[in-house]
Amino acid sequence: MSDETPISDLTAIVFTRSPPSLKVLNQLLLPHKTIYETVSNVKEGYEQIKEMKVRGAPAIGIVAALSLAIDLLLQSSNQTNSIFKDQETLKSYIKASLEYLKTSRPTAVNLFRASDILWNITEKETDVNMIIERIIEEAERMLIDDVQDNKNIGNFGAEFILKENQDKKIGVVTHCNTGSLATAGYGTALGIIRSLYFQNRLSHAYFTETRPYNQGARLTAYELIHDKIPSTLICDSMVSALLSLSDNNNNITAIIVGADRVASNGDTANKIGTYQLAITANYHNIMFIVAAPSTSIDLNIKSGKEIIIEERAEDEVTNVTGIVKNINGGELKSTKVRLPPEGVKVWNPSFDVTPAKLITAIVTEKGVITKKDGTNEFNLFDFLT
Ligand code: MRU
Repeated sequence: MSDETPISDLTAIVFTRSPPSLKVLNQLLLPHKTIYETVSNVKEGYEQIKEMKVRGAPAIGIVAALSLAIDLLLQSSNQTNSIFKDQETLKSYIKASLEYLKTSRPTAVNLFRASDILWNITEKETDVNMIIERIIEEAERMLIDDVQDNKNIGNFGAEFILKENQDKKIGVVTHCNTGSLATAGYGTALGIIRSLYFQNRLSHAYFTETRPYNQGARLTAYELIHDKIPSTLICDSMVSALLSLSDNNNNITAIIVGADRVASNGDTANKIGTYQLAITANYHNIMFIVAAPSTSIDLNIKSGKEIIIEERAEDEVTNVTGIVKNINGGELKSTKVRLPPEGVKVWNPSFDVTPAKLITAIVTEKGVITKKDGTNEFNLFDFLT
């Protein structure tokens, strides 16, 4: 796959081995402030993920892996550190660190996949220095490979959509943020939108605000404006109305979303609100496309029923968080405004599961997977093994 597609310079994760440094963009402050925070150890990596300063399934897995890498890199400069005493001590430190990182967020499988990869490497090595070296190498590789994987997803996805729509420009709807900020770069669903745009085949991208955390209004808006991609922000509740008005002048060809975990049969967990988008896409007879790296596919589970859905704090629903200038001007401050009266009951699942039946295609870096004719399920096991 060609490497020539321009890549956005919106970078959420910056890692260098020499000098040892891991910096993560604090996405809670976007789009108003661009502040990178230094991560020096596993605990700080865990906090970045838990507090959603970094979010998005691929980015979570990569930051978890790199936080272990930077932790080992910085600690290993201190030769007397007891965790490097022998391979058993180091291995139990790594095991405990990975188990801890895995408790940060439960739904995106990429975190668990990254942890398994690092643990398999650790188990195989017997030399302390080799263990450290291999972990750093692998974590760095995850960061580098993700960008190329996303460009491949973008190109495969655009090709799939264009094959069915030879002569027309494509209008799309997307949800949440699946772009450079949610990955190592370029993005998955947003990667497909970028590829359509770079091929001059995108007419317009509509994107939802994505309550309660507003990844769309804050982050997708930031990326689309940055790349000058023609786009319009809508509330989550406006998608069906938009599709009902879609005609040749204002055509919407596809809804394109990312994934946090795809089960073997294709059932897909993604940001809350995705399921209702799939229902409306099917009702309006337009494509519903899931874009995700193969690391988001969990072959250990048969269906979406087995996916654990993260429930987050009530205040994400009861409050709207924004950035305001303080009264004396100057400094920007993050402020929460409460909407409902005290005492209201709140339910805040962060993700939902879209049944495979409603999904037209799953686009990965290895190619596009569609359902076998006449069936309602994907056979991801056959595709990946
Ligand atoms: O809660 P978040 O912001 O981590 O949720 C992100 C999503 O649901 C994305 O759509 C998904 O992780 C894919 S990101 C390429």
